[in-house]
Amino acid sequence: MQPIQEAQQTVGNGMKTIQVRVNGKIAKKEVPIRMLLVDFIREELALTGTHVGCSVEGRCGACTIVLNGDAVKSCLMLAVQADGADIMTVEGLGTTDKLHPIQQGFWEKHGLQCGFCTPGMMMSVYNLLKTTRHPSIDEIRDALVGNLCRCTGYEHIIQAVQYAADQVAAMSKEERDEIFSY
Ligand code: FES
Ligand code: FES
Repeated sequence: MQPIQEAQQTVGNGMKTIQVRVNGKIAKKEVPIRMLLVDFIREELALTGTHVGCSVEGRCGACTIVLNGDAVKSCLMLAVQADGADIMTVEGLGTTDKLHPIQQGFWEKHGLQCGFCTPGMMMSVYNLLKTTRHPSIDEIRDALVGNLCRCTGYEHIIQAVQYAADQVAAMSKEERDEIFSY
């Protein structure tokens, strides 16, 4: 990721063209240099599954995405800093015909109520399960420490992650590589 000042240096008119790969598709757009990455994702790419919950203060985690293999809060980055990045949003997880095990876990274990926090939760869980086969409850709690939920009391979310982890652990390496390609 480019530092903010360096990312903004190359522009003269307050705009800069950036190119990112989002959920496997290339997007090239001219953006205001002060545009937040979360606004770029929601407004320019129309991927509104990424939410804004805390007035972009980095506190709630609703805006979490996977960027170059890490879970990041997209309200704490500028779009220009993501130039050249590989991004996954919740829309890239699974399809209605074939849910990702993480989505299946939230469905089976009632890991959501209003659902506002859910996309960000899922991105943090993705980052955990990509590298941790059998996460302990403490590891799950640690992975979700930056994601707030005002509805569920978290217990069903923990159960959803455990369900997803069991599904992933039962898969072949090829199947795991396919669903954790970011
Ligand atoms: S909107 Fe980004 S952390 Fe709350
Ligand atoms: S399900 Fe409502 S905020 Fe988490």
